Amino acid sequence: MSTQRLEKVRVGIVGAGAMGSVIASFFASHGGYQVTYVCDVVEKQARTLADPFGADATTNVDELISSPKVDLVYIVTPPKFHASMSIAALSHNKHVLVR
Ligand SMILES: NC(=O)c1ccc[n+]([C@@H]2O[C@H](COP(=O)([O-])OP(=O)(O)OC[C@H]3O[C@@H](n4cnc5c(N)ncnc54)[C@H](O)[C@@H]3O)[C@@H](O)[C@H]2O)c1
Repeated sequence: MSTQRLEKVRVGIVGAGAMGSVIASFFASHGGYQVTYVCDVVEKQARTLADPFGADATTNVDELISSPKVDLVYIVTPPKFHASMSIAALSHNKHVLVR
């Protein structure tokens, strides 16, 4: 049996609305993940979702996407932002999930 300790996958959530909240709860309930960053254009939305997880909050998506604290970017904004945000995150060598 391997004794290697696996690091948690650090998740950045873009879009702190209805689905962003569901996604955050999902990751929080799975031991292999940690929500480390939340972005929303509405600052209060970002903070409200980030604070219970001890995550950073921002209104600037580039800040989240380029952060060394983020391994996986989960994009849950309105669909018109999905393509550009996904490409930007991939260009920073992040894993990307889009809803
Ligand atoms: N609500 C659902 O039941 C449901 C189910 C399946 C899929 N989805 C999908 O999930 C995605 C999000 O839906 P939702 O229901 O959470 O919407 P929502 O309106 O509740 O939340 C979207 C959030 O994104 C933020 N936002 C908008 N533009 C942004 C930007 N440029 N940068 C950062 N944040 C931005 C908004 O301020 C808002 O807080 C959509 O693609 C939707 O189709 C939603």
